[in-house]
Amino acid sequence: MPVHATRPQHPEELLAGPALSEGLRRVERRLNRLSTSSRLPLINRAAGRITAAGGKRLRPALTLATALALGGRIDRRTVTAAACVELIHAGSLVHDDLMDNAAERRGVRTVNAELGGGGALVVGDFMVARAWLAALSSTSRTVAEALAATLVELAEGQFQETADLFDAGRTPADALESVRRKTASLFRTSCVVAHPDGRAMAEYGERYGMLFQVLDDLLDLASTAERLGKPVGNDLRQGVYSFPLLTAVGRDCEDLRPFLGRRLTEEEITVVLARLRNSSVVDDTIEYCRGLAADAVAALPVVDHPEAAAVLYGLPIATVDHARALLAG
Ligand code: IPE
Ligand code: IPE
Ligand code: MG
Ligand code: MG
Repeated sequence: MPVHATRPQHPEELLAGPALSEGLRRVERRLNRLSTSSRLPLINRAAGRITAAGGKRLRPALTLATALALGGRIDRRTVTAAACVELIHAGSLVHDDLMDNAAERRGVRTVNAELGGGGALVVGDFMVARAWLAALSSTSRTVAEALAATLVELAEGQFQETADLFDAGRTPADALESVRRKTASLFRTSCVVAHPDGRAMAEYGERYGMLFQVLDDLLDLASTAERLGKPVGNDLRQGVYSFPLLTAVGRDCEDLRPFLGRRLTEEEITVVLARLRNSSVVDDTIEYCRGLAADAVAALPVVDHPEAAAVLYGLPIATVDHARALLAG
């Protein structure tokens, strides 16, 4: 297993190698064409604005890195599969923002803020369905099936989270199961669809996806609005009891239990966040995610391609380190 003594701090720096950046440029062109391919200009404007607004492109990068790792090259089908994965992700964010009633995403106004709930519903549908159609016509039946199965899981994960809102009986295991479906499933599939042998990377993708969402949940509790570029405490405000929160309540923050099961005032949210930041939840969650990063890398097949190896071995722990740098205090 290659060891990388010097590794960039920022996850996105890892994606800057020549093959991956060229591949990501091709994905960008494909993604732009797909998200603006409706007969209706208003749909193109809304979908195109969200995909053009950026985002880290982590999922398509995983597809490209997996293709390089397992096949040594990035072909047309890989580019389409990567664009489909990103378009499904972006469509699911349009739906997520509708469910969360969020006003801003990727630095621009959300589709729900711009066009209302009905508009966001159908624009998100368009993006997801368009991705699936492109996969069906330009990749393979296996890839299209994997994407459709992931959409089912994603919907189930989001539904579970919604069904558990303000449920004081939600357990850390319930929260993790929702994370596995709503987020880790698409990370896993981003790897699987890259190559006929992509299944070999399924465990890696899933573990990386788990740590990615758990860190996002932690930052919502323990970062600052300035560092994140969005308000903190959103999950608590909306009644989403995340894995880090439920773990803390089950350990040294038993005194926070009376704050569960009901809507909180802004003052109460401030109290809960301050209490969590002074608890072991931050270190415990970072440790848990370090474990997942190690498990992800341990699940990798042997990767000979140097650029792919640097990305796949480096990304999980770079993501943990980057999140740590965003924590308050
Ligand atoms: C946001 O995903 C949703 C989560 C799974 C936390 P990303 O953080 O990858 O969003 P973009 O693509 O960079 O905008
Ligand atoms: C991400 O969940 C949504 C999906 C995985 C579909 P979050 O609700 O935690 O993501 P943010 O915080 O809005 O980006
Ligand atoms: Mg959200
Ligand atoms: Mg959500």
